[in-house]
Amino acid sequence: MDEYDYTARKDTVAQAFAERFGAAPALWARAPGRVDLMGSHTDYNLGYVMTATVDRDTWIAARPRADRQVRIGSLNVASSAAFSLDMIEHDDDAPWTNYVRGVAVALQEAGYALRGFDGLVHSTVPFSSGLSSSAAIEMAAAVVFAAVSGFDLDPVQMALIGQRAENHFVGVNSGILDQYSSALGQSGSALLLDCRTLTHRAVPLNPSLQMVICDTRAARNLTGTEYDERRAQCEHGVRLLQRAYPAIEALRDVSLEQLAAHCDALPEVVARRCRFIIEENRRVLDLARALPVGDRVRLAKLYADSYAGARDLYEIGAPSMAAMMDAMLAAPGVIGARQAGAGFGGCMIALVECEQVVAFSAAVERTYAAGTGIQPRVFPVTASDGAGLLAF
Ligand code: GLA
Repeated sequence: MDEYDYTARKDTVAQAFAERFGAAPALWARAPGRVDLMGSHTDYNLGYVMTATVDRDTWIAARPRADRQVRIGSLNVASSAAFSLDMIEHDDDAPWTNYVRGVAVALQEAGYALRGFDGLVHSTVPFSSGLSSSAAIEMAAAVVFAAVSGFDLDPVQMALIGQRAENHFVGVNSGILDQYSSALGQSGSALLLDCRTLTHRAVPLNPSLQMVICDTRAARNLTGTEYDERRAQCEHGVRLLQRAYPAIEALRDVSLEQLAAHCDALPEVVARRCRFIIEENRRVLDLARALPVGDRVRLAKLYADSYAGARDLYEIGAPSMAAMMDAMLAAPGVIGARQAGAGFGGCMIALVECEQVVAFSAAVERTYAAGTGIQPRVFPVTASDGAGLLAF
């Protein structure tokens, strides 16, 4: 199916919905995936991220029910589930439904009265690759629950509900980046997100630049201990730095000069983690100036520094990422390239000269496949609107 053909997609989903539930869907929710253009692991350090939605998204076609049952299936995954909103348990047989269950739990804990629905999911966001397919299904589920239950959900609140679902129900200790991006994304713009104030400013990409996702397709598991370990190391750094600077609450509050002055008080690995976060935060703010004007020299340097820091200081690289980085930097039209998402494999992002996207993609595919034996997925993306109902 053509990922971008809404009409064909709608027909396919509507037909499958009718076959499964014996009626037509009454509403359609949509939520996009996201890619971070700068700001790896800065979100849980209450810093900044330059994030953009992508035009790959998750849809849920739904029909309200009179009772408190949720029946949910997927066109991407064979498993499906039915559960009562009065007793929501983990599902190991259809683990993807835990995102929907977790959102229901978080909404009910926040005091929302929910109604059940029949729903069918269809997603064009690649799974487990760093483009936030989980946030996309969470945000789409939140939109459905709000619509069938008859309440309005402020998008920031919706993002927090999704993060709560992820942290407390699914069991991944992630920050706010993914859900915020999916809920508040804006078509045609990146967002400069402030993870402390949970506010953002739209930052337009210079029209001569194209975002291109380069998926290493190497295995990646976010629930692994590495992510939690990085978080813990940052928190450790903050606790030690607080002895000298009692006012700091997060690495967001620490300058490079302050870190340098007290580096000796930190274990070496903790100092490296802190340095990366502090420098990465600065790069986000620098990128906000370079993106709209398309300053090629600045973009190349910011991206190169971000990748080097992620690899050497934060150590979230992987051999597949190094191979992809080489392929991206050797390809025609590349302006800058770096990691995306949590790292440890998954997708990477390149900024590419618009008119060279086809040549760039072909070269990356060829070089990466020749070097690794893995066929990557390379595709341009455009920022799309945040989560909401589709007006069909
Ligand atoms: C994952 C998490 C986010 C964020 C990124 C790294 O995507 O879900 O909260 O921490 O990693 O920037």
